[in-house]
Amino acid sequence: MKIAVIGSGTMGSGIAQIAATHNCPTILYDINKDALQKSKEKLEKILNRLIEKGRIDESQKKSIQQNITYSYDLNDFKDVTLVIEAIIENLDVKKKVFHDVESIVDPNCIIASNTSSLSITSLAGSLRKPERFIGLHFFNPAPLMKLVEIIPALQTSEQTTSAARSIIDGWGKTTVLVKDTPGFIVNKVARPFYSEAIKIHEETGLSPMQLDTAIKNIGGFRMGPFELTDYIGHDVNYIVTETVWKAFYYDPRYTPSFSQKRLVEAGYLGRKSGKGFYNYNEEHKTTEDVADAKVMQPYVDRIIIMLINEAADTLFKGIATKEDIDLAMTKGVNYPKGLFQWADEIGLQNCVDQMDALYNEYHSDRYRCCPILRKMANQNQSFFT
Ligand SMILES: NC(=O)c1ccc[n+]([C@@H]2O[C@H](COP(=O)([O-])OP(=O)(O)OC[C@H]3O[C@@H](n4cnc5c(N)ncnc54)[C@H](O)[C@@H]3O)[C@@H](O)[C@H]2O)c1
Repeated sequence: MKIAVIGSGTMGSGIAQIAATHNCPTILYDINKDALQKSKEKLEKILNRLIEKGRIDESQKKSIQQNITYSYDLNDFKDVTLVIEAIIENLDVKKKVFHDVESIVDPNCIIASNTSSLSITSLAGSLRKPERFIGLHFFNPAPLMKLVEIIPALQTSEQTTSAARSIIDGWGKTTVLVKDTPGFIVNKVARPFYSEAIKIHEETGLSPMQLDTAIKNIGGFRMGPFELTDYIGHDVNYIVTETVWKAFYYDPRYTPSFSQKRLVEAGYLGRKSGKGFYNYNEEHKTTEDVADAKVMQPYVDRIIIMLINEAADTLFKGIATKEDIDLAMTKGVNYPKGLFQWADEIGLQNCVDQMDALYNEYHSDRYRCCPILRKMANQNQSFFT
């Protein structure tokens, strides 16, 4: 089975590494020769690190490297089984690439996109055979992150979906099936983790450090929302929020925050620019800034309840199953537990009461309780037990 990956940047290089590690001859294509060279050098470093850690040996390193051919000629794609595109996030540029690829590959070749935010259905529309097209959304760093969201377009055939899914499963990934909706599962459900935390920061004056510490200590998350957005980069995180907000017809649940927009405008993009919510040129004053757990508990609860409500909305809209939503949030973004499992533990009536209290306080649709939560609470139901 031969694989082709288009775009040798962060994601494309990682995806090619996965395919090559699973013994697939892989063509890594880019229009930029320097990008191909950089990708090759980066892989050498990554594999050397894996050898140092005892995860692979010299012969495995050699075989992975030999499995990857670096190319800047699309004609090399003639006999590939699956093409995965990971180039810049631009609908027209991607559509043009798919049009060119389709004129070269075999009629049975599956063509996929790793887009984070574009409509898979719209991309499929650029093909003569849209039934062969699918979204395969890997997470960064692709070789390490277990989750891949499988997103059929409206036009995708069942055969394409099952063939693509079985290839990705064969690479040891955890796959979840998602309806083509903005943000898919993870980038939709995770929005309140960032935006509700920033809103609380704006409204209360609690510092990023205080909120991050509370959400880690009380909520059990590995990283707090402020350090995480600093790590992701505010340019990237803000654009995802804005894209999801616009794509959901300006639903107030996704309204982006001015604080984050101003960070982007100032060039305070987070770790990569030395400054974001935190200043990476100064030492963090960890101990001074920690607030009392009792004071912080309601704010942590508020973020968690908004996440649960968003997960419920994702189920309500038929975007994915409750099992896949919980799997996506635990495997894709390392949440301490699935949000439906969390809802069961809190109790659904309690979830509804918390949402209604927020709604009563703000009188904003941002805080409308998902009908599925209210209905299940009324019937004394839970998600899993
Ligand atoms: N970076 C992430 O965290 C992440 C996570 C999931 C999905 N994605 C998605 O993956 C895709 C790639 O993101 P990235 O972060 O790897 O980007 P990147 O900027 O690191 O790499 C993009 C590569 O595509 C190449 N390229 C641009 N136009 C091209 C063309 N017409 N033909 C061939 N190559 C072309 C560039 O030279 C570059 O090497 C995007 O659609 C993004 O939304 C990114």
